[in-house]
Amino acid sequence: MPVHVVADTSAKLAGVRAVLERKHAVTSELLGGLSPQRSKISALVVKADLRTVESICTLKKLFASLSHVRKRIFLIDDTAHLSVSQAYALGATSVLVGPLNQAKLLAELSEHAAASSDPVDPLDAAATASAGEIALASMFSAIASGTRIDVAGAKNAGARIAACIEEYGLTKWLATVRSHHEGTYQHCLLVTGVAIDFGLSLGVPSSDIERLYTAAMFHDIGKATIPLAVLDKPGRLDEQERKLVETHPAAGYDALKDNKGISAEVLDAVRHHHEFLDGSGYPDALCAESIHDIVRMLTISDIFAALIEKRTYKQPMTRQAAYDILNGMNGKLERPLLAAFKDVALTR
Ligand SMILES: [Fe+2]
Ligand SMILES: [Fe+2]
Repeated sequence: MPVHVVADTSAKLAGVRAVLERKHAVTSELLGGLSPQRSKISALVVKADLRTVESICTLKKLFASLSHVRKRIFLIDDTAHLSVSQAYALGATSVLVGPLNQAKLLAELSEHAAASSDPVDPLDAAATASAGEIALASMFSAIASGTRIDVAGAKNAGARIAACIEEYGLTKWLATVRSHHEGTYQHCLLVTGVAIDFGLSLGVPSSDIERLYTAAMFHDIGKATIPLAVLDKPGRLDEQERKLVETHPAAGYDALKDNKGISAEVLDAVRHHHEFLDGSGYPDALCAESIHDIVRMLTISDIFAALIEKRTYKQPMTRQAAYDILNGMNGKLERPLLAAFKDVALTR
């Protein structure tokens, strides 16, 4: 069952997720962070201090957009009556008081799942894309606010995208993401889907699929340090803006390098997804032998996804036109890999 967790600290978020993740498809967000598109949520679990006006106001706004969610469980640390009544005033359908009681929380959710008359397909493309966007929004806001990045949440979202693409194919994924999502999150969801399908088409082992979707989910995280006015600028960037955008691979690397949940291969991909075989890329002007396979695959997926993105100010490029552009990038991308990418680009 898709369960959405909201908490006012990263530690609370991680604690609740850890309890729920083995049984449910979990998405989450930090209270007061960016507001991602949320849909297909069956139950909401909230763990926040209800003694601050700020939390209450933010939750009120959040609940206004989630009025369709019928199960709303509040976890309250303190036993003050005021907090419990505040939870019900906000629209809680049940309140669990005291230290987090795993068994009680899971029982509440399974009762709801049993009673729910419209079970949601866990592979539903729209729900999967929304979960992916929520995971991306959570990690972008963690970078922007200097708080802990929810690596497990991003990997979980990537695994769902992989399952969805295996079931329904890339074409459905591209259509779903392009019709419901915008800007950097749309781009990251497209890159993740394309990279996964590239791996699936080559028959790589599941451990490599996991590396690919993790690298793709995180590849542009450094853009969290760049103003939206620049990222979403319609039309061409000037020289200064282009230089600023080009700081994002190193910024992403710096933000992730001390995170134990991020492997060396994923770090490498985050830093080097704009490198080219002929040494003309950035930030390190690497040459062919220093650019690893996963990075080469990610770079092809990244450029393709950027070309077919839907923007409010321009028509999306066709898959054929985007593939033709990749083929015209002489010396920059690996030829045999590009040839293998043809099916992914055009038909799958
Ligand atoms: Fe990038
Ligand atoms: Fe990118």
